[in-house]
Amino acid sequence: MGEAFRTACLIGWPVKHSKSPIIHGHWMECHGIAGEYRLEEVSPDDFTDFVTNLAAHGYVGSNVTIPHKEMALAASEPDERARAVGAANTLWLDNGRLRSTNTDVEGFVSCLDDQTPGWDANLENALLLGAGGAARAVAHGLLERGARNAYVVNRTFPRAVSFQARLGSQIHPAHWRDVPALLCEADLIVNATSLGMVGNPDMEIDLDAARDDAVVADLVYTPLMTSLLKAAEKRGLRYADGLGMLLHQAARPFELWWGVRPEVTPELRDLVVRALNAG
Ligand code: ATR
Repeated sequence: MGEAFRTACLIGWPVKHSKSPIIHGHWMECHGIAGEYRLEEVSPDDFTDFVTNLAAHGYVGSNVTIPHKEMALAASEPDERARAVGAANTLWLDNGRLRSTNTDVEGFVSCLDDQTPGWDANLENALLLGAGGAARAVAHGLLERGARNAYVVNRTFPRAVSFQARLGSQIHPAHWRDVPALLCEADLIVNATSLGMVGNPDMEIDLDAARDDAVVADLVYTPLMTSLLKAAEKRGLRYADGLGMLLHQAARPFELWWGVRPEVTPELRDLVVRALNAG
């Protein structure tokens, strides 16, 4: 008798441009899993009802994206990471209990482990640009990996201040005007704003003042080589890209739903790059 056909999904609003079905479809094929990863466009009004009846909708679990990550946390039993970040991006059923985690944290640190190994060896000062949901996951990952100070710069300053309340005294809210000074001391520079993304203004930062051994990371992956990463390359700095984070954040959900840990390979990366280039 063949294995039962099982499904997982990504719930968002909107959701149709997601590349996650390509990632999960590739891994299902690699591991011979009879199933499918679907996209579910669900409105905020319908979200809680949808996820509390995930099994009835035919799903073993789901990813969750904008604008539902906070609601996913409230509708489930979150683990320590999801609670610390204040948002969940992954749901799974555990003996009938709806549990959640935040795999953006792991996506970020694993991407840097992969693309810029040793990045956390002596992490004194990190400069984090942005204070949205993605930045919260990055900040949590930085603290997990022993960053002594994380300077959080945001256009809307109170959002950076709220980081300190949530994540503790190693977080230092800062203003854009402080960036040139902070840049001179930073071991790691992370863009977690939407600056540099297609259709948005560029990230205007002069990396000339950066340390020679600084590592640069950008969460934006459209385009793959953002102006910030191009500047890092030109300046001879090591860097990690947003696509790496997208691929690595997908591994843990796959493992939770299907019981096997998938690998982020150059073949998978090529597949997603081709899809991104195709639009
Ligand atoms: P995500 O979940 O991807 O983090 P978000 O919570 O909307 O999305 O956060 C977007 C981030 O990009 C925020 O830090 C935002 O700054 P504000 O909090 O001031 O809105 C930042 N951002 C977006 N557009 C920006 C712009 N034009 N200039 C500076 N920062 C910008």
